[in-house]
Amino acid sequence: MSRMIFVSNRLPVTVKINKKEVTYEKSIGGLATGLKSFHEQADALWVGWPGFASDRMKRSQLDQIESSLLDDYHCFPVYLSEKDVTLYYEGFSNRTIWPLFHYFSNLTEYDNTNWQRYKKVNLEFYHKLEPFIEEDSVIWIHDYQLMLLPELIKNNHPTVKIGFFLHIPFPSSEIFRLLVWKEEILKGILGADLIGFHTYDYVRHFLSSVRRILNVNHNFYKLLYNHRHIEIDAFPMGIDYQYFSTHQVDNPIIINPQEKMILSVDRLDYTKGIIERIKAFKAFLDKYPKYIGKVRLNLIVAPSRQSLPFYDQLRSEIEILVSQINGSYNNRDWMPIWYYFKSFSQDELIAYYKAADILLVTPLRDGMNLIAKEYVAARTDYLATLILSETAGAASELSEAIIINPNDEIQIANAIKNALEMSKKEKMQRNKIMHERIQRYNVNFWAKEFIQRLDKIQFETQIKLPVEALVNKDELIKQFDASQKRIFFLDYDGTLSEFKKHQCKLHLIVH
Ligand code: F6P
Repeated sequence: MSRMIFVSNRLPVTVKINKKEVTYEKSIGGLATGLKSFHEQADALWVGWPGFASDRMKRSQLDQIESSLLDDYHCFPVYLSEKDVTLYYEGFSNRTIWPLFHYFSNLTEYDNTNWQRYKKVNLEFYHKLEPFIEEDSVIWIHDYQLMLLPELIKNNHPTVKIGFFLHIPFPSSEIFRLLVWKEEILKGILGADLIGFHTYDYVRHFLSSVRRILNVNHNFYKLLYNHRHIEIDAFPMGIDYQYFSTHQVDNPIIINPQEKMILSVDRLDYTKGIIERIKAFKAFLDKYPKYIGKVRLNLIVAPSRQSLPFYDQLRSEIEILVSQINGSYNNRDWMPIWYYFKSFSQDELIAYYKAADILLVTPLRDGMNLIAKEYVAARTDYLATLILSETAGAASELSEAIIINPNDEIQIANAIKNALEMSKKEKMQRNKIMHERIQRYNVNFWAKEFIQRLDKIQFETQIKLPVEALVNKDELIKQFDASQKRIFFLDYDGTLSEFKKHQCKLHLIVH
């Protein structure tokens, strides 16, 4: 395979600067795990931000970090200034795209200064990438921070194969069209040859936005745009099943056998429905008081994006609500909510997964949600009980979970009761199916499937559907005569090709 280059906003290695000491911390899980085997190939490269603002650093120190990242980790840094972080990362990425794509249009800010900086930083990524690009390179760009990059590369390197994957939802065209810079964003993404989303819903939303905004129609998930064929498809991201299903934890969590534990694990984010979840737990205690003293909620919230106003405000709201509920319901021997505002290691999380009777995953909107899959995989006893929001991407794969509407606290309260009372047999039946699926469609499968599809793209020999588009009709007839298998598609007018007044079209596939 040709040289692979991965690009994402954050590198899979975080560089921490502590006075004079520089430390390198490899990311675990998610993208880093999925791409590991490809990234480890000799000439592969990963380009991205190492996670700190570079303004106050000396050039010599930045050069030193650059060569360590390149030599030891196959990574190349794109340095961002404090202003870049404020306007591109916190601003356009997380105050415009993030809320809008998660349907929080009321929180979406349309600020031209942030947009200009987003364009500038995407261009900066392109300039950093440029020296590494060879004409047969395969480049895979990740996520909403870099939606202009595919077009920047394609305009200058038309023969390079470019993949783009969006890790967050793509909203309905009615929401997407609210974006002031919608055309530029779509054109940016369409620089890619293969565009991937977690679910078919997001694929459909993207295609209808392209049709309505750019007036470009698709044909079976293929677009013809600027004389280029572009493929769009769903690639649901998986987890490292092997790791989660075999990991032995250092310190297992022992809970009182008389007490049941509901677990909730999220990054601090208003999209995760944490407030609604806490209220639903209260509704459960109110509706089914026999469980007071017998069920506790372990609420783990990992700090995230705290420099943004909504996040800090959300943290205060969570803490006030938790203390109100604990203040009113606790007794001498029992506290309803055990709240943690910190990040846990993967080992500690698995210990919680193994001890939890229920995992409550109720985001208001979530691209995929890998926590739900990790919990099921870690429960090799097949006794996981997953309550999952219908608005998480994972719901289209995990239909054996108890599916709820995250805004319906009574439905969630009832789901908790049903989960607590579910028979062992039913749990095992549901778990078995989910295990098979999570094991098969794991994160390596996801990465391999996307990369193979991208690598297979042939610019010269892409399928041209109508028979007139085939240059040499005689050759076609010759091949047809010689073929062993022939398929005729007889088209009711307008079904396979557009309406024509006095013309009959024949579609042929020749093997
Ligand atoms: O879900 C999208 C995502 O970018 C993840 O890839 C990432 O783990 C998370 O959001 C947090 O991202 P960041 O801390 O870079 O804003």
